[in-house]
Amino acid sequence: MEWLVYERMVNVELIKVAVDGKKCIGCGKCVNDCPSKALKIENGKAVYSGKCLECGHCVAICPMNAVVMPEMDMSEVVEYRPGTFDLDPEKLLNAMKFRRSIRNFRSDIFKPADLERLLMAGRYAPTAKNTQATKFIVVQKELAEFKKLFWEMLPAAIEELNSEGSPAAPALERFLYEYIENRKDNFFFNAPALILIVTDNPWDGGLAADNIELMACAMGAGVLHSGYLKRSIPLSAKLMRWLGIEGRTVSCCMLAGYPAEKYCRTAPRKRPDFTVR
Ligand SMILES: Cc1cc2nc3c(=O)[nH]c(=O)nc-3n(C[C@H](O)[C@H](O)[C@H](O)COP(=O)(O)O)c2cc1C
Repeated sequence: MEWLVYERMVNVELIKVAVDGKKCIGCGKCVNDCPSKALKIENGKAVYSGKCLECGHCVAICPMNAVVMPEMDMSEVVEYRPGTFDLDPEKLLNAMKFRRSIRNFRSDIFKPADLERLLMAGRYAPTAKNTQATKFIVVQKELAEFKKLFWEMLPAAIEELNSEGSPAAPALERFLYEYIENRKDNFFFNAPALILIVTDNPWDGGLAADNIELMACAMGAGVLHSGYLKRSIPLSAKLMRWLGIEGRTVSCCMLAGYPAEKYCRTAPRKRPDFTVR
């Protein structure tokens, strides 16, 4: 294999993109599709010539499969074949309409194949500047232990929120009271799994959460985004340590599992506020 990039590196940064000169036909598709202009055509071949966003478009678009990214897991790259991802737009829209926030779950935890799909869905969401710096944490086998720690830390968290004058404090106080009085759990409901999305970029986190939720719908599962858990968990250094994310940002937090309820129809929405110009 003649990896042209080795000869043409313009700086000493790690090789991000390598083009197999024997396969490359110099069509320029990778050059045109590269958002950071990291590739150019020289002597009829694509060569790597500078800073790379590592978005992988060059790998994905090459009709000759001539491009690799040595730092990436190339074994994961899937070839396109007709039918690989046929999505019916009407069915997809219906899936979005029928998606519900789930507050009543079956007790079984995710089947391994389902869990893998959920996590892959989150991981394949786009990230700003392609940082791919998002961490995903699923707590299911150890959820009872986590919940015990959570309830233990909650009074101190409420005190902190109260001292900040946070509008979330009264609701949390009520939830704590209901839990103590009659074991009603307004935080975890009866969910078998908790998923945390850890990233400093809230947009990245939201997109990953959305992918996960949609995937959950596709496999007959569901989630509940929990603003209250997202607000409360980071208030406890002990919980953050337990999760292994001290000093990091919990961007999204959701309960997940298989729903115990079935919905007969979609839920109404406010009248749309669309502007198309
Ligand atoms: C960012 C976000 C945070 C939420 N936090 C909570 C929460 O803490 N507790 C809860 O019961 N529902 C929570 N929800 C669910 C919303 O109440 C729910 O999406 C809304 O009532 C519409 O219902 P639907 O999702 O079934 O369409 C949250 C939703 C979002 C998007």
